[in-house]
Amino acid sequence: MDHREKLYEGKAKAIFATDTPDELIQYFKDDATAYNAQKHDIISGKGKLNNAISHHIMSKLGESGIHHHLIRQINDREQLIRKCKIIPVEVVVRNIAAGSMVGRLAGAHIPINQGTCLKTPIVEYYLKEDALNDPIITAEHITGFDLASEDELTYIRLTALAINRLLMDMFADIGIVLVDFKLEFGRPAKPVAGEPAIILADEISPDNCRLWDKATGDIKDKDRFRKDLGGLVDAYQDIATRFGLTVSLP
Ligand code: TMP
Repeated sequence: MDHREKLYEGKAKAIFATDTPDELIQYFKDDATAYNAQKHDIISGKGKLNNAISHHIMSKLGESGIHHHLIRQINDREQLIRKCKIIPVEVVVRNIAAGSMVGRLAGAHIPINQGTCLKTPIVEYYLKEDALNDPIITAEHITGFDLASEDELTYIRLTALAINRLLMDMFADIGIVLVDFKLEFGRPAKPVAGEPAIILADEISPDNCRLWDKATGDIKDKDRFRKDLGGLVDAYQDIATRFGLTVSLP
């Protein structure tokens, strides 16, 4: 499977074609971006760590019945994935108030402070549109603009909540609190009989989760980059090690 045509290059990953039309290669880059790429750096080793961690998490979710795009890990940078048409909606699930939710509601009469445990998980939707800074949208925008049908959106929401329960347990087992995370879903180019029309795509890694050490509160995710805390690779390496993964970095 030699290197083939690059179909797409995103902020942290690139997608390549393979000789099989409905299968693609997802390549994990070392680029770190934040604030819609206004902040950018190359962090050596990040791509390998995210590849390993995301492969581990997606595989575990698959074993628990979540349908996803991952076929297999090819090497320390690449995964073979099923080709999907990505639904242009970022699905965020929050267990603890942090990040943009706190910023957006700062000063509100209801107290929504960083670190407040939410009564129940909150699911939010953001339109994937860099030029508009990924604006928050409602379920009615999604169905009203035909991004997904009512049934599909119900499936996405329930699947996101099921993934949240699985991830919370998976991270609790390694002493980590899952604060929030972002998911993307897609429609497989080659549907499989009996499978949902929409499956989990993209990645699940410390790049798109907020992960706090249960004992110390230490930040183990991309907020280390966003907030200039340093130590991103050590934090991601710690997550990998706790999962029992060995990622050798130069
Ligand atoms: P937020 O608090 O900035 O809205 O982020 C919520 C979660 O979603 C957090 O774990 C980071 C993740 N996320 C992404 O993975 N990609 C994005 O573009 C954004 C805005 C958030």
